Amino acid sequence: MSSAPTISSAPKILVFDSGLGGLTVFVEVAKLRPHATLLYCADDAGFPYGPLSEEALVARVMLVMESLVAAHAPDLVVIACNTASTRVLPHLRARWPNLPFVGTVPAVKPAAERSRSRLISVLATPGTVTRDYTRALIASFAEGCEATLVGSSRLAPIAEDFLRGAAVSEAEIAAEIAPCFVQRPDGARTDVVVLACTHYPLLLDFFRRLAPWPVEWIDPAPAIARQADRLLLQRFGADRIGFREPPRAIFTSGARPVPPLAAALSRLGFAASPRNAPQG
Ligand code: DGL
Repeated sequence: MSSAPTISSAPKILVFDSGLGGLTVFVEVAKLRPHATLLYCADDAGFPYGPLSEEALVARVMLVMESLVAAHAPDLVVIACNTASTRVLPHLRARWPNLPFVGTVPAVKPAAERSRSRLISVLATPGTVTRDYTRALIASFAEGCEATLVGSSRLAPIAEDFLRGAAVSEAEIAAEIAPCFVQRPDGARTDVVVLACTHYPLLLDFFRRLAPWPVEWIDPAPAIARQADRLLLQRFGADRIGFREPPRAIFTSGARPVPPLAAALSRLGFAASPRNAPQG
C-alpha cells in the first residue's frame, strides 16, 4: 500500500531591511523557496539605519518587528541588513526564542579564502564598520589578511535613488568606493571587496565600471538564502506543496512606491498594490 504524500502549508518567510537593499536577498530566497509565502518589509520610515546609534537601532528594529510578527506570524525571518544583524540579532532571538532569524553579516571568511594578495576590503555602512561583531569576524576569519573597513553613508541612499529611477552621480559612487582600493609599496593590491550592505549589490554594475582595477565583489545573498533554506528544511521538510501567492511588500512609511520602483517590484513578482504595515 502506498502512503499518501504529506501535504502541509508552505512556510511564511519575512525578509526585512531598512529599505530596498534586502531585495537582493529576497530574490535568492524566492529562488530556493518557490512555494513559500513571502513578505518583504522595508522600514523606509526608519531608513537609513547606517548612521543610527546602537541603542536607537535596537529600539527601532524591535519596535517594527513587534508589529510585523504580531500582524503576520512568520515562520522564519531573514534580517537582510548587515547594519541590523551585526547588532540586533541577539535581542530578536531572545524576544522570539521559537522563531528562527537568519542574519546577514559581512562575508569576511569567503573574502579571506579567495584573496591572493591578502588585501581585502569590507564596504559597509558607518554602523557596520564600527561594530564589535565585524571586528571579531575579521580577527577570527581574516588572519594573515590586511582588512580595510570602509564605511559609506552615501551608497545606501544612492542605491535607493537608483531603484526609484532617480539619476545617480557616478563621480559620487567612484569617490565612495575609492578607499576600498589599497596598493602597497610592494605593488600588492586589494583583490576582494565584501559587499557588507545589502543595498550595494544594486549598484554592482557601477562598482565594476568605476573600480580603479578589477576585484572580486562578494555578495553574500545566495549563502544567506541557503541558510534560510536549511533552517526551513529542519522545521518543515523539503517537499512543500503549496499555492504560491505573489509576494507582498510592506513599507513602514505607508508611502506607495513611485512608478519605477513599482515596475521593479512587479518584475520581481510582487503583487501590484503593496500593503502597508502599521507604523513602527
Ligand atoms: N541594507 C542595510 C545593510 O545591509 C543598511 C542600509 C541603511 O539603512 O543604512 O546594512
